[in-house]
Amino acid sequence: MGKCPSCNAWNSFVEEAAEPSKASRKRSPSKVARTESAAVALVDIDSGGDAARIATGQRELDRVLGGGLVPGSTVLIGGDPGIGKSTIALQLAAGVASVERPVLYVAGEEAAAQIRLRAERLEVAADQIFVLGATDTGAIIAAVAKHRPAVVIVDSIQTVHTDRVESAPGSVAQLREAGAELVMAGREYSAAMVMIGHVTKEGYLAGPRVLEHMVDTVLYFEGDKNYVFRILRAVKNRFGPAGEIGIFEMRSTGLAEVDNPSEAFTGAERSTAPGSVVTAAIEGSRALLVEVQALAAPSHPGNARRTTLGVDHGRVAMLAAVMERRLGLSMVSHDLFVNTVGGVRVDDPGVDLAVIAALASSFVDKPLPSDLVVIGEVGLTGEVRSISQPQARIQEAVRLGFTHLVVPKAIEDQAKAAGAKTVSGVATIEEAWQAL
Ligand code: TYD
Ligand code: MG
Repeated sequence: MGKCPSCNAWNSFVEEAAEPSKASRKRSPSKVARTESAAVALVDIDSGGDAARIATGQRELDRVLGGGLVPGSTVLIGGDPGIGKSTIALQLAAGVASVERPVLYVAGEEAAAQIRLRAERLEVAADQIFVLGATDTGAIIAAVAKHRPAVVIVDSIQTVHTDRVESAPGSVAQLREAGAELVMAGREYSAAMVMIGHVTKEGYLAGPRVLEHMVDTVLYFEGDKNYVFRILRAVKNRFGPAGEIGIFEMRSTGLAEVDNPSEAFTGAERSTAPGSVVTAAIEGSRALLVEVQALAAPSHPGNARRTTLGVDHGRVAMLAAVMERRLGLSMVSHDLFVNTVGGVRVDDPGVDLAVIAALASSFVDKPLPSDLVVIGEVGLTGEVRSISQPQARIQEAVRLGFTHLVVPKAIEDQAKAAGAKTVSGVATIEEAWQAL
């Protein structure tokens, strides 16, 4: 089928060979073979606590993982080709290998010599990292049993295959079966499994996403290859908060932690031209200042484009419609472009008002003050709603010297108390427009 009748996505169907079915599928519960296995009282189970976690030697990586790798757990790192998955995997390997147990690096994508070259480039001590060139699960598990590594890196899971399934490596059936075998092996030898999966924009449904439900943690690399910043986001984590992000910078010596991300995403050479404004967003557990840029350029009505990077496309279309209605700015006849500086993706609805401010500023071609921060979620009726964690946002803004704030009415007093010079509490976008 070309088009999915359920979600309307094109080319999302993947051919999968049928595995020989077991005749026993329709057994009734009374006929199930009964094997004794004792259930244990929850209070008697040893959790291992946080002490069992393996620190990766990288603060930002430990942060997304929720405090380090958990032995016996499986982490899936996904992302576009070339974004830096192998780089972070090797840095992780080096950080872990300096402790007592070794790291096993399964190299399915690259030759061992290439891994060595990368290690030299990253200047990592590699004497406790073992590289395995084989990609069948039998060989991998045998190597795990032999070396007893603390961490196993599988680069990439698409190259791994198991004899139990006939189809080609990378196919859904292979991914599922080989993935499950490796998850089991990690658990058995209490090694942390780190699987790398390529996610291409077109075919990601068929790719490593089938593994998401069976692994403990799923991390996705975001960011544009053309920018230096890389965001590693935990989309699922059984051992820590989901939604947490780690922020890295790609350097010639590998991925480095970014000490002051708010400074990075507000741009050192921030212009005072129309269409730019800074907002304070919550990503994961931290507040982050992000510069939002917008351009409203006249075009032909009915033909106007909305192009976004870092903010949700549908959201911008909605905000433009609200502006049109409530502020009387005729957006239908304008092409709208909205993006975040550094390519950081912001999911937080607290950026709504900043998108409106940036668009309005560009529309009327008047700049906003450079030390202004705009925060607030906007509803369909043009009301400005309060946002989560206002205190953290306000503090981050004040800390970086942004002294003029436009915020939802409900948090006006908090903002004043935090030491901002001028605070405008607004309840609607009309009020925000006046304040701006
Ligand atoms: P890589 O980790 O190989 O990507 P992936 O495994 O996700 O496909 O890294 C890809 C890019 O990173 C590559 O274009 C080169 C660049 N890079 C650096 O800029 N600095 C470095 O130290 C390294 C190792 C790579
Ligand atoms: Mg790679």
